[in-house]
Amino acid sequence: MENKERKPVYYSEYLQLDKILNAQQPESDKEGIRADDEMLFIIIHQAYELWFKQILHELGIVREVFKQTNINNSTPDIYNSLHRLKRICTILEVAVQQMGILETMTPLDFLDFRDLLRPASGFQSIQFKMIEAMLGLQYDQRHGKEYYLSQLTPADVERVKKAESELSLLVLLNNWLERMPFVKNEAYWGNSDNDFWTAYRNAYSASLGEGEKQNLALFDSLFINDGDYPEGRSFSTDASRNSLFIMLYRDHPLLQLPYDLLNTLLEIDEQLSMWRHRHIHMVQRTIGKRVGTGGSTGAAYLRGAADSHYVFKELAELTSFLLPRHLLPALPESLVKDLGYFA
Ligand code: HEM
Repeated sequence: MENKERKPVYYSEYLQLDKILNAQQPESDKEGIRADDEMLFIIIHQAYELWFKQILHELGIVREVFKQTNINNSTPDIYNSLHRLKRICTILEVAVQQMGILETMTPLDFLDFRDLLRPASGFQSIQFKMIEAMLGLQYDQRHGKEYYLSQLTPADVERVKKAESELSLLVLLNNWLERMPFVKNEAYWGNSDNDFWTAYRNAYSASLGEGEKQNLALFDSLFINDGDYPEGRSFSTDASRNSLFIMLYRDHPLLQLPYDLLNTLLEIDEQLSMWRHRHIHMVQRTIGKRVGTGGSTGAAYLRGAADSHYVFKELAELTSFLLPRHLLPALPESLVKDLGYFA
């Protein structure tokens, strides 16, 4: 639509290229040292930070949807959220690939300017820490938590802490899963919704081979015994039950979308892990056993973080409790009907 009052949009002004394209100022230039690859080093970090910004934007929108205490499944909200989470996966795929560009910088090229960067480091990437926090990584779960804020300015510490204090996607997901009515609805199960879990437990127990029998104790504490729930977990009994139910009966139309959502969150965890591992390989190749410019143990610190920073690990763990379709307990007819599109 033409608006005569509106100033015509000009490409470089709209994109504020004067700011972006003047934001590469190599330290080596300032020192009068020749370091041809510092430009690449700056640009690749800036490109990452832009993608991190986009990821935070998407997570913010998804979080607003999940903050509702009653998400109406007949509205576009959940579809829209799923779409955005899938976009995050695609961005992360690109982020992983992008490491390859930086790897064209050899260790010797990096040494030309590395010492000029201290004590700056990706360790100070606030946006990266905020992504982790928004997804659900809590302070207590952080590898190297003693010093993970120590390298930041007070203003940045506040930003990270604020992100950690807000409801994370993990918490909101738990709340959403808890509200699912399928396994806890008298209309389907009479007064004994536990019949389903008893039947499932029996089938699961019978399926366990030698060396797997100990899984039953965890199964019981997660899904069966009230009050025996293991400490330090993110999902409540109801959320665990419902997420397992979604995985098991995902072929029913109404569960396809929740299943896709859970699967996409696992994919985000996986892509982030791929990024971490790709980063570790690059770090090992570039600085070997030297400590990081941020002062950590370098690759050793990064490996610890990669091992322990999975956010949706309890979802991933549910696969230990799946059974083949032909062993699944049959669902009440009324529930099967309600799980169809034309209930
Ligand atoms: C030559 C290239 C690179 C090297 C040698 C390198 C090295 C390191 C090291 C050693 C650390 C651990 C903290 C420290 O002591 O400094 C670290 C952390 C980090 N780096 Fe890099 N890095 C490189 C490129 C990148 C790029 C392109 C990004 C993209 C944004 C990035 C993002 C991060 C992040 C987010 C962390 C914190 C990770 C965490 O705490 O789990 N790094 N890096």
